[in-house]
Amino acid sequence: MALSLSYNNPSLTGSIQVPGDKSISHRAIMFGSIATGITTVEGFLMGDDCLSTISCFRKLGVEIEVTHDLVTIKSQGDDLWKEPSQVLDTGNSGTTTRLMLGLLAGTSFHSIMAGDQSIAKRPMKRIISPLREMGADIKGRQDGHYTPLAIQGTQLKAIDYTLPVASAQVKSAVLLAALKADGKTIIHEPIVSRDHTEIMLEHFGATITRQDHVIKLEGGQKLTAAHVQVTGDISSAAFIIGAVLITQDSKVVLKNVGINPTRTGILDVVEQMGARIEVNENDTQGERSADITVYSSALRGIEIGGEMIPRLIDELPLIALIATQAEGTTVIKDAEELRVKETDRIAAVVKELSKMGAAIEATEDGMIIHGPTELIGAKMTSYGDHRLGMMAGIAALIATGEVVIDDAECISISYPSFFEHLNILTK
Ligand code: S3P
Repeated sequence: MALSLSYNNPSLTGSIQVPGDKSISHRAIMFGSIATGITTVEGFLMGDDCLSTISCFRKLGVEIEVTHDLVTIKSQGDDLWKEPSQVLDTGNSGTTTRLMLGLLAGTSFHSIMAGDQSIAKRPMKRIISPLREMGADIKGRQDGHYTPLAIQGTQLKAIDYTLPVASAQVKSAVLLAALKADGKTIIHEPIVSRDHTEIMLEHFGATITRQDHVIKLEGGQKLTAAHVQVTGDISSAAFIIGAVLITQDSKVVLKNVGINPTRTGILDVVEQMGARIEVNENDTQGERSADITVYSSALRGIEIGGEMIPRLIDELPLIALIATQAEGTTVIKDAEELRVKETDRIAAVVKELSKMGAAIEATEDGMIIHGPTELIGAKMTSYGDHRLGMMAGIAALIATGEVVIDDAECISISYPSFFEHLNILTK
């Protein structure tokens, strides 16, 4: 469905609670299903991706009840999962597909996994390679590098593995497989990526050691059910932060946003660009959270690359948009991973922002944006990619004329209340 938006220089004011963190919500369902007992999850993200995870675990026989944003998982432990009689449909979710591969590889049964057209294009070799080293039996298109994938569960063995890409999904798939493997798995992580899996392993009672970019996990550990409080998703908050920064006379408070340091690159970058932003940390255990106040700000271009990239990988489409409003040049480099996200986000962002008159060019591993430029209304394509859809939605706030976004429904993958929140804040 195409959505037509036209604003007249709005200011954003008020306070909102962004939906639960997508990465943490997925993991809460997975860990609650592995553990024995009753796990409760509060603040769960009712987005399409996380609902795909729930539906896959139900097919494995795990009892999962959903009421508002509270999820209750009753599991007798992963040893009692049953062989699914249907294909496990992972929808648009890379996290579901990749992390579940790590889990299914070590079961005693056969399963088949497939997602949508975007998932069918996303590289699975990065997951299959370490899992095969652990003894996994996985078959699929192009030697198992693309979905659909058939997984024959087997006894796995521990590995000593150096991650070739800074990917939390690869790291997590290996860690989840390691739980069922014989021996101690050691993972070397050259550049640190989000560590929600490591934090949740500890939360569910596993012993894991982490030191100097090396993670160690002994196989055969059993997990115990727990309560999970999901913090607000900083990747969703980022769109509202960006909207406030580039509109006039705006001030918004975002409550209870997750500020795990492996995810807060967006805050560091906008501060470096000159943003006025206040972060007041809440008193929480485990995953950290804060109330964030953000004000309209005059921004300047900066260079972004290196170890910063995994800390803001999902925020780069939004950063490209705000860079069009910053004084000077913004250079994004070392971000070739963007090419294998829900869509090729370098090509898509450059194409879509160019339609609106932005001075933006693609490089092999990033983008170069010259600002500030006035943005003009255009017919935008989301490519079914939620973050592209939201980038267009925020761009519409400052564009002259009408912005039309095709397939805007895809935004419900991670932020179902996105337009509702924009309406509240622009009133
Ligand atoms: C995620 C990890 C990141 C991120 C994705 C969610 C996760 O992917 O882009 O949206 O929950 O582990 P990569 O691990 O492929 O970088």
